[in-house]
Amino acid sequence: MKRILVVGAGGQIGTELVTHLQKNYGEDNVVAAEVRPDVVKKIAEHAQAVELDALDFQKYGETIKKYKIDAVYNLVALLSAKGELNPDLAWKINIGALLNSLNLARELHCAVFTPSSIGAFGYNTPHYKTPQDTIMRPDTIYGVCKVTGELLGDYYFKRFGVDARSVRFPGLISNGALPGGGTTDYAVEVFYEIWKHGKYTCAVPRDAYMDMMYMPDALTATTQLMEADPSRLKHRNSFNIASMSFTPEQLFNELKKRIPTFTWDYKVDPIKADIANSWPDIMDDSCARAEWDWTPKWGLQEMMTDMLAACREKVENGEY
Ligand code: SER
Repeated sequence: MKRILVVGAGGQIGTELVTHLQKNYGEDNVVAAEVRPDVVKKIAEHAQAVELDALDFQKYGETIKKYKIDAVYNLVALLSAKGELNPDLAWKINIGALLNSLNLARELHCAVFTPSSIGAFGYNTPHYKTPQDTIMRPDTIYGVCKVTGELLGDYYFKRFGVDARSVRFPGLISNGALPGGGTTDYAVEVFYEIWKHGKYTCAVPRDAYMDMMYMPDALTATTQLMEADPSRLKHRNSFNIASMSFTPEQLFNELKKRIPTFTWDYKVDPIKADIANSWPDIMDDSCARAEWDWTPKWGLQEMMTDMLAACREKVENGEY
């Protein structure tokens, strides 16, 4: 059985990935590492948890050795909008954590999963059915880090044999930990605000199409790719994956059909608008389908049903 270390385990993906991995590999085989002590305490209620700054190479290495880890899931990242407010810090954290993960994986013989994103693309990428292999000149520091990560992942595989694999996540919609500082966050926030205030003010333009995905599909994609037969993989870092795509206005109109009293308006953040407009409308995920049988299960309507129920409960319990 694989022994897995999730680094950045308290974030939007990590919070749910830890539980998903525990179900797949057993609780004893999953270790959750997180930098914030209060979050470590919370994770420790249901998982093996360690306090770790992914930029601390020595402690990161000691953790891998101590728990006899053979696969690292590095989720440490400052998201796109937050990154634009402090590009130096975004580079330092996103690339620092990545390089430590790859170098330790090389030294200690681990596999590495690091997410890439729709943010790896930019204005001059074809936005409709964005091909797997295409122009990648992102316009954000977040995207620059993602492209760098993809190149480094492939380089460490070819040069040092590190089993590095990755997917390009769309905006992820979930009801565990909140995303922090992303451009696609609106598609999460609205589900809470609808119950809390009955209205939502959106920072992304009404007509900004972006790829989105419900977290259960993102988790399945992650483990499915990491378990995929390597002889079938023509690509590694990183695979386009897609399941649904919409604009804010389309999502809000669908929500209004369920909750007729819902109202919304826009107070567009120019940074988020610029980022959203530079990203794909919908990615072509045929390589993921062909090389490791990627098949999404959640569409817009099923996602909405699930999110509305889960977020209602959290608002009613005072958890939001
Ligand atoms: N959800 C991320 C963001 O908006 C994109 O990967 O920054």
